[in-house]
Amino acid sequence: MNTATPDDETTTAAGEGWAEDMELAPSHPGDRPSGAHDPEREGERLQKVLARAGVGSRRVCEDMIEAGRISVNGAVVQVQGMRVDPETDKIAVDGVRIELRDDRVTYALNKPSGVITAMSDDRNRPTVGDMIGDLAPGLVHVGRLDQDTEGLLLLTNDGELAHRLAHPSYEVRKTYLAQVSGSVPRDLHRRLRAGVDLDDGPVTVDAFRVVDTHAGQSVVEVVLHEGRKHIVRRLLAHVGLPVSRLTRTAIGPVELQRMRSGSIRKLTREELGQLQELVGL
Ligand code: URA
Repeated sequence: MNTATPDDETTTAAGEGWAEDMELAPSHPGDRPSGAHDPEREGERLQKVLARAGVGSRRVCEDMIEAGRISVNGAVVQVQGMRVDPETDKIAVDGVRIELRDDRVTYALNKPSGVITAMSDDRNRPTVGDMIGDLAPGLVHVGRLDQDTEGLLLLTNDGELAHRLAHPSYEVRKTYLAQVSGSVPRDLHRRLRAGVDLDDGPVTVDAFRVVDTHAGQSVVEVVLHEGRKHIVRRLLAHVGLPVSRLTRTAIGPVELQRMRSGSIRKLTREELGQLQELVGL
């Protein structure tokens, strides 16, 4: 169903009795019944918001709207001039949610081995905080990597996103590449999928594969949605494969890609949108 509010229509706010109807209130201003005019709810034109988000020129965005490639709060919009609120409306291009707010930033860091996941350290060890300097105010690291683990670490000033990505209940999948000593038993995949009992409880992997084996060393890829301390090292040691090098290569849909060790990049709006979608924001 098309929930668009064309430019020339008056966008309205609900009147008396609204609180009682809250449960049933439509989720988008375009769905609200006409009545009192509330300029607060006017929002901005969809094509302008899309263009500012870097989707394309306004003209291109209008064509995309016409082609049915844009949705607002889950409904495809094909009418030009719909007013949206970038703070609250969820906008997707070809089904992929995009972040519209400019004040929230999230970065990916390729943490080198030897750097501790902290903003500062009273023992003067090198920290993630040293690496990011004053990149943006209010950045926090999302979860942790061991000092000797390298790879993808997210930093954000969006507190709720950080909380949800790190909280076990959201079961965000993380992918690791581990260099291990020894050859990998044939049935290990099945064993890890079934679950292994560690000292602090069982752990199951979402995926496991051998990437390479050479001269008594193997590289394996492990995907799990666990955040317990040293979990990958402990899990692999438990099955007889001590880890000599560990790299996190992905967090949910965000990949380390070809980032150089120590480099930082801002997540794209698409990546951010996908992360938010993943944790229900
Ligand atoms: N598992 C580990 O063992 N170490 C990390 O840094 C992350 C996951």
